Amino acid sequence: MAEKSFLKTLLKKLVIGIIVGIILVVVAKSTHFPHIFQIMFFLYAMLGALVFILLDAPAMKRLEGGKAVVALIVFYLLLSGLYIAGASILPQFDPEDEKGKIEKILRAKKAATEQGKADELLARAKELDERAKAITQQLSSLGAGAQVEVEVQASSGGGGAASGDLIALGKEQWDLQECYNCHKLFGQGGKKRGPELDNLGNLMTPDQIKEKVLYPKKWMAEGFDKEFEKGKMPDKYRELMEESEVDALVAFLSSLKDASVKTPTPIKKY
Ligand code: HEC
Repeated sequence: MAEKSFLKTLLKKLVIGIIVGIILVVVAKSTHFPHIFQIMFFLYAMLGALVFILLDAPAMKRLEGGKAVVALIVFYLLLSGLYIAGASILPQFDPEDEKGKIEKILRAKKAATEQGKADELLARAKELDERAKAITQQLSSLGAGAQVEVEVQASSGGGGAASGDLIALGKEQWDLQECYNCHKLFGQGGKKRGPELDNLGNLMTPDQIKEKVLYPKKWMAEGFDKEFEKGKMPDKYRELMEESEVDALVAFLSSLKDASVKTPTPIKKY
C-alpha cells in the first residue's frame, strides 16, 4: 500500500518537475539565454523534483555497525562521482577566452575615441605645416630678412606640440595593451621578464619597432633566446590595434632614449 502511494506521488512530482522545467526553458529562451543554459535550467528542475521525490521515499532498513560505515562510504563515493562527472560535462569558464572577448569589445570603443583623436592631431599637424610653408614662401618672395625666417620657424612649432600629444597617446597604448606586464619601463612593471625598453629609441628605428610589435618573430632581443623560442612576446597586436594606435605607440617607444638602461640589442631574424 505504502509502495503504491509512493509510486503515485513519484509520478505526480515528476510531472510537476517536467512542467517547471519546461516553463524555465521557455522563459530562458525568450530572454535569449544560450542553449546550454536552457538545458541546465531543465536539469535543475529535474534535480529539484528528485529531491522532493526522495523526501517521500519509503524508509530504508536501518543499518548498523560495519554495514552502516560501508553504506556511508559507498554513498559518499557515489555522490562525489556524480558531482565531478556532472561538472566536467558542463562547459567550463576560461578566463583567457573572456579576456579575448573583452579586448575585442574594447577595440571598437577605442577605435571610436582614440583613433579619432590621433587622426585629428595628425590632420592638425599637417595643416599647421602647410600654413608655415605658405608663410615662409610668401616672406621669401617679399625678400624678408633672416630674422623673420627664424620667427616663422618658431611659430610653426605646432607640429612639435602635436607629436608630443602623439607620444602621450602612445603611452596610453602602452598601458592599455599591458606591455608593462612583461617589460620594465621607467623602473616599473615586467613581472614576466621581457627586456627593459628605456633605451629602445637609440637601438631601433620607428619602422623596426613597428615591425617588432606587429610581427614579434621578425626580431629577437639579444640574450632573450629562450623567451623568444617560447614565443613569449604575444603575436596579437596586429589584430588588436588600429594602425593609428600602433603609430602612436611607436612614436612613444622611439622617444625612449635613456642610455643608462641596458636595453638588449635587437637581432633581425628574417
Ligand atoms: C607576455 C609578455 C610580453 C608582452 C605582453 C609584451 N612583450 Fe615585448 N617582449 C617580450 C619578450 C620575452 C621579449 C624578448 C624576446 C623577443 O625579442 O621576442 C620581448 C621583446 C620586445 C622588444 C624588443 C626589445 C629589444 O631590445 O630587442 C620590443 C620593442 C617589445 N618587446 C615591445 C613590446 C610592446 C610595445 C608590447 C606591448 C604592445 C610588448 N612588447 C608586450 C615579452 C612581452
